[in-house]
Amino acid sequence: MSDQSLMFVRTVSKRDVQAVRDLLVETWHATYDVIYGADRVTQITDEWHSLAALEARLDVPMSEFLVADDGEAIGGMAFADTVDDGKTLMLRQLYVRPAFQGRGIGGMLLDEVEGCFPEAARIRLEVEEANAKAIAFYLAQGFARIGEAKGADGVVALIYERPIVWA
Ligand SMILES: CC(C)(COP(=O)(O)OP(=O)(O)OC[C@H]1O[C@@H](n2cnc3c(N)ncnc32)[C@H](O)[C@@H]1OP(=O)(O)O)[C@@H](O)C(=O)NCCC(=O)NCCS
Repeated sequence: MSDQSLMFVRTVSKRDVQAVRDLLVETWHATYDVIYGADRVTQITDEWHSLAALEARLDVPMSEFLVADDGEAIGGMAFADTVDDGKTLMLRQLYVRPAFQGRGIGGMLLDEVEGCFPEAARIRLEVEEANAKAIAFYLAQGFARIGEAKGADGVVALIYERPIVWA
């Protein structure tokens, strides 16, 4: 049984930034050490997920920066912005701490992020080809592969998309 109901999703504020960085460092090592190597993951997270880089996201126009919080710890985060005049929602990051994975938190963050952009017609993301667990998650969530791109360090990234259908 999932205990996702203990988590609530809310917008990130400045006081969360250190906890979000800690989550990203932990989850990036757990996910990507096998792809990029631990030292490179440390380098990338120091650069991309520095406190200054994360704080700067709080001001990105047409974006949403969310965390799943149980009152004691932050279990997951999502960051998305838009392209194509707001029609395409780009899910830039979706990370659930290893100890919290498989409880519905990723799905909850995905649904919440979509709900923040009523003008969007589709949601798109890039995922490393070697990240089989995340690809299985996105397929289970109704995404389909639409293309390919170059990720960090030239690693192949696959582009996935799903339409946003409003009930
Ligand atoms: C990928 C990730 C965000 C998914 O979040 P999560 O909270 O673990 O996933 P959920 O528990 O919400 O799963 C939702 C659905 O996807 C399915 N799913 C999740 N992981 C799966 C897997 N490895 N294989 C198959 N299906 C999977 C679940 O069965 C569930 O379906 P259900 O609701 O019908 O039962 C999370 O595992 C994560 O942060 N992984 C490491 C970082 C990462 O790779 N992020 C993505 C970068 S692009």
